[in-house]
Amino acid sequence: MNTYSLYIDGEWKETNEKIEVLDKYTQEVYAHVSKADEKIVDQAITSAKQAFQTKKLTPYERYEVLQKTSVLMLEKEEELAKIIVKEAGKPLKQARAEIKRSAETFLLAAEEAKRISGEGVPVDAAKGSENRLAFTIRQPVGVVGAISPFNFPLNLVAHKVAPALAAGNAVVLKPASKTPLSALELAKILEQAGLPKGLLQVVVGSGSTVGNEMMKDKRINLYTFTGSAEVGLKLKQETGLNKLILELGNNSPVIIDKEADVAFAAKTLAGQCFAFAGQVCISVQRIYVHESIKEEFLASFLHEISKLHIGNPNEEVTDVGPMISVKEAERAEEWIKEAVDNGAEIAHGGKRTNALLEPTVLTNVSSKMKVVCEEIFAPVVSIMEFENIDACIKEVNASNYGLQGSIFTQNIDTAFHVAKAIEVGGFMVNDGTQYRVDLMPYGGVKDSGNGKEGPKYSINEMTEEKLIVLNLR
Ligand code: SIN
Repeated sequence: MNTYSLYIDGEWKETNEKIEVLDKYTQEVYAHVSKADEKIVDQAITSAKQAFQTKKLTPYERYEVLQKTSVLMLEKEEELAKIIVKEAGKPLKQARAEIKRSAETFLLAAEEAKRISGEGVPVDAAKGSENRLAFTIRQPVGVVGAISPFNFPLNLVAHKVAPALAAGNAVVLKPASKTPLSALELAKILEQAGLPKGLLQVVVGSGSTVGNEMMKDKRINLYTFTGSAEVGLKLKQETGLNKLILELGNNSPVIIDKEADVAFAAKTLAGQCFAFAGQVCISVQRIYVHESIKEEFLASFLHEISKLHIGNPNEEVTDVGPMISVKEAERAEEWIKEAVDNGAEIAHGGKRTNALLEPTVLTNVSSKMKVVCEEIFAPVVSIMEFENIDACIKEVNASNYGLQGSIFTQNIDTAFHVAKAIEVGGFMVNDGTQYRVDLMPYGGVKDSGNGKEGPKYSINEMTEEKLIVLNLR
């Protein structure tokens, strides 16, 4: 049996109470992880605060630690990928891609550590202020509280930890309790890369103990959270005036215009609707197809889906594996049933075996069905048709969410018109919504959250800009 301890004050701390981490494909226990209680969270925050005050690294030293971490991650790619396959049920090829992305995220943060700077402020342009010189500097916020989700157990941890350390902060990390192993492996790698003790703490436990304790603690200066809108709202309410970066849900919309390359759209979307069983915040969930090409698109889309390999995530060929738990798969199945009971038709899939839900395509849906208006976070996509592009934009924008959206069209005027009108943080033309590279600004509007990820942008959020004015007498 694999056993993991918590990482507190630079030491591996074992506790009596353990969390069972399941192999998400077999549903058997894969690892035991020590469970944190309120006292340990308090210890972790105390240690982080102290390390922030006493273990300051220069930007170059931060660069060195983060760059070395990136190299070590790539050296351990296979080992780490296999852990992600087990703890998350993510298919092997997608798990390998996640390790490469995580190494890239650390490298980007390393490079950004050398570029943190303020700007000159022309205060002497103000009447009566002629003899003054002013500029800003950027300083770390202090202790960053990071709460990460199960769906990218390494790269979404990397998007929180790497920029926080690059900016000179200390971090208290609470990884998802269903997938804490990659985060603990990352702590080992950072330790090996020379990160001073205390600058990273990893506390594993439930939201109701570890999460709540973190939310209450005024020594945390900034929270960075990826998860549901419901928990994001609670965090906002509980943490008052604290800085927050919130990456919440989405029910990502894609428009297929009458001037689209239909075959290309079908092939691209078959990959993007079902990768990691649709459990990605930017997974394609709503497809709006122009009525003139709907039948052609649907036939081509279903043909592409029939090529996907479904099943064991340990196998090289697998494209779609299990969901994170049987309970979540049952919840998605329930939503499908509710849609069907109200007139939706299943054009593909719909069947579930334990946590494995077939890639499912629904037609004849309405905007009030949960599968359309809420975030399904499962391998389920709904197809709707439209006649008029402005009416379609209105329907897309009726969602409470706004993370990423996209359009397929060969008409540049239509592309720009829609790109400007859709209420989202990021918009893709001739791609699905699930486009993300780690250097880009990533974050939504409306209930999808606020603040941006991407090391350069997170560092901006994770530093305070201070103004310094010299009176040159
Ligand atoms: C997310 O689910 O928000 C992360 C998507 C990604 O990093 O590709």
